[in-house]
Amino acid sequence: MKATAIAHKDYTIARIDDRVYSAFLEHLGRAIYTGIYEPDHPTADKNGMRGDVAQLVRDLNIPYVRYPGGNFVSAYNWEDGVGPRDQRPVRLDLAWHTSESNQVGVHEFADWCDTVGTKMMLAINLGSRGLDEARNFVEYVNGPTGSYWGDLRKKNGRAEPFDCRLWCLGNEMDGPWQVGHKTAEEYGRLANETAKALRAFDKSLELIVCGSSNSDMKTYPEWERIVLEHTYESVDHISLHMYFANRNKHPGNYLALNHKLDRYIETVASTINLVKANKRSKHQVYISFDEWNVWYHSNEQDRAILAGNEGWPHAPRLLEDVYNFEDVLQVGCILNTFIRRSDSVKIACIAQLVNVIAPIMTDPMGAAWRQTIYYPYYFASIFGRGTALNLAVTCPGYDADVADNVPYLDISGVHDEEGGTVSFFAVNRHPTEVLDLSLSLQGFGAQGRVIDHQVITHPDLFAVNTAVNPMNVAPKQGAGAIVEDGALKLGLPPFSYQVIRVALT
Ligand code: AHR
Repeated sequence: MKATAIAHKDYTIARIDDRVYSAFLEHLGRAIYTGIYEPDHPTADKNGMRGDVAQLVRDLNIPYVRYPGGNFVSAYNWEDGVGPRDQRPVRLDLAWHTSESNQVGVHEFADWCDTVGTKMMLAINLGSRGLDEARNFVEYVNGPTGSYWGDLRKKNGRAEPFDCRLWCLGNEMDGPWQVGHKTAEEYGRLANETAKALRAFDKSLELIVCGSSNSDMKTYPEWERIVLEHTYESVDHISLHMYFANRNKHPGNYLALNHKLDRYIETVASTINLVKANKRSKHQVYISFDEWNVWYHSNEQDRAILAGNEGWPHAPRLLEDVYNFEDVLQVGCILNTFIRRSDSVKIACIAQLVNVIAPIMTDPMGAAWRQTIYYPYYFASIFGRGTALNLAVTCPGYDADVADNVPYLDISGVHDEEGGTVSFFAVNRHPTEVLDLSLSLQGFGAQGRVIDHQVITHPDLFAVNTAVNPMNVAPKQGAGAIVEDGALKLGLPPFSYQVIRVALT
């Protein structure tokens, strides 16, 4: 099967905001405890943080990590996680029916962010709490010493403000499952008043208001319109979430789901513009897609804990999806969508980062390894920085549940002007046929030369990586990609993911 594409240096979408390669860590299951934090682990540092996990995270070059929730944040008291550790209370976590020891709080998390070379993006509890706790938390984190909250932070070991720039005004407040769930009107008013108070403290903070938990919510997209009518001038981003599942074991339908994601982004971008026009505003709100990933493999095994049948365990194995090769293709397509929508999406967070629906898995007191989906996320984060190209693609397609004529080729292109390279991220959705791709580079006015070509493919869609076989699904050097007559030419094997990088000089 043949596919063609045209890339031109002036035919661009937007400068990609590096923050689309961000991630998320929640006090949920083993994300924190025996995930990033395990003081007895042989690789633990002086703060009790696992060195093996830190290295796998560092390699990803993640700009921001959203913390501490998620559903967890909607009944969280941030004060429980500061001060002497032996005096911190154990609390019941209503979101996940577990116990929270509070041995990790904002100080420990901030130190870990420094260790792994990332920054924190903090979520505020607007479920069980309100404006006053929000402003106290922000003052504690960012305020000067010589005032109550800044001095308390200093007493707890940190004189310098943490200087957190990104703040989420609650989490999934449209969801009936959320502690303190609200209507769009209730939430819009609370978010706006909270945003105004936070801006009175520091007008340069970047504030993120809750959009829909997914595009199947009954309140979508009216939720976005109403919330933005209340908050438009006081926030910078609206948050969207989406999780992907192959429930009926149909690869074609599953791998088309990023078309639904694309429509979701397009609809919310249009809603933003509608409200902007209604308000005659110059201000531009963007999308923070701060939870996305595949989530379905672990649903069955989680039922007993979530139903409360197992009491209130501390750091149980919850949401531990073991990802397969098919999920590599899915994550590759999702990331391609964020690159292609980089004019609207300025932040995106893979949810989550360690153990809980995550690219990194650990055994308590044992190994840490890369799940299959680690790789497409890694390649996009490392090589997907620059300007997104508006590729003109021609390729046969197929009809799927969510869209008709879904092209077998899903591809994005990123021009790194400084490095003099163009990187292409490509998924062949076809189960049996090689895609012969000819991608014209004449618009770059240079011949070009392939400098890297990585392929992930596997005969078994359901192949996984485990502690004993961590490299079962992993990238391999590709063969046969060349630049010839001003075009990049290569064959993409059936069901495959690849990165092809071209030097332009
Ligand atoms: O990431 C898991 C959960 O998914 C989060 O806690 C919540 O925000 C979403 O529903």
